[in-house]
Amino acid sequence: MSAQNDLTTESAAALPRTTMIGTGSMGGAILQGLRDPGVAIERPIVVTTKSAASAAKFDGADDIDARSAEADPEANRRAVRGAGVVILAVKPWMMRDVVREIAAALEPGTILVSVAAGVPSAAIEEALGDAAGVAVVRAMPNTPSFIGRGVTGIAPGSSAGDAELELVRRLFETVGDVLIVREDQINDIAAVSGSGPAYLFLYAEEMQAAAERLGFTAEQAKTLVQGTISGAAELMVRSDDDPAQLRRNVTSPKGTTERAVEVLQGADLGELFDRALRANVQRSEELEAE
Ligand SMILES: NC(=O)c1ccc[n+]([C@@H]2O[C@H](COP(=O)([O-])OP(=O)(O)OC[C@H]3O[C@@H](n4cnc5c(N)ncnc54)[C@H](OP(=O)(O)O)[C@@H]3O)[C@@H](O)[C@H]2O)c1
Repeated sequence: MSAQNDLTTESAAALPRTTMIGTGSMGGAILQGLRDPGVAIERPIVVTTKSAASAAKFDGADDIDARSAEADPEANRRAVRGAGVVILAVKPWMMRDVVREIAAALEPGTILVSVAAGVPSAAIEEALGDAAGVAVVRAMPNTPSFIGRGVTGIAPGSSAGDAELELVRRLFETVGDVLIVREDQINDIAAVSGSGPAYLFLYAEEMQAAAERLGFTAEQAKTLVQGTISGAAELMVRSDDDPAQLRRNVTSPKGTTERAVEVLQGADLGELFDRALRANVQRSEELEAE
């Protein structure tokens, strides 16, 4: 199969043959979204994992062709041959080795999408060596892609043109919203939306624990907190009001909410978020330097 995509007719066409290297938290979430029967993509989607056990999770799935490096040392090279898009979803520190491993097996026209934090496209292009005609795109997705509600920032490397970027945009739009950004903004995207679900889960953990300390059972606390978060999030999405107005709508002057919000604002949440996001960006920069 040729890796050459007819990029001119792409908008109407199904997404081309796609290989995903790594199906952990992030790769697995994107994969789950792509597997939705409503997504027009060439099937089976080819995936590789390190362990045979991870690949075995796809046994019996006729939309997935799963192989493991443990069972077949050639698995990654075999998996990328003929792929139109290869999504690299291994840990940042493994990325260069995996790219070097597959470089010779990539065909001209393949788009290589890295979702790794802290690995610049230039480093991937360098690891590609002589592989000709391979376009590199950085993507920073998040795990709600699992349910088709992800947010992904994408940025072209020097070898990717508008058509390649457009195809990657279409691919990630099947699992949520997509923002096209400059590569120097990818670390900031990672800090806000890439890691963002963890901040919200932390909030849920702490709220549930506080509700339990008020005397609710774990089950009751879960119902109260998770229902509040998902309901409020949906209200925010559907409302024309911004979050500040939505907050004011539940904060009557001299009321109970006002008292609690005063306590939270007393913790200087703005400064706290600035520090947290800066720490995240700094970690991406450290990974870049490694
Ligand atoms: N987690 C997030 O929310 C998030 C958000 C944005 C971006 N990212 C990026 O996503 C990437 C993956 O992170 P993750 O959290 O998904 O990691 P993870 O859960 O540890 O998954 C890594 C996957 O890579 C596979 N793997 C390792 N070595 C391999 C090899 N040589 N050949 C084929 N597959 C191999 C592993 O296989 P086994 O299952 O057999 O171990 C596993 O499926 C990272 O670069 C990270 O920066 C993550």
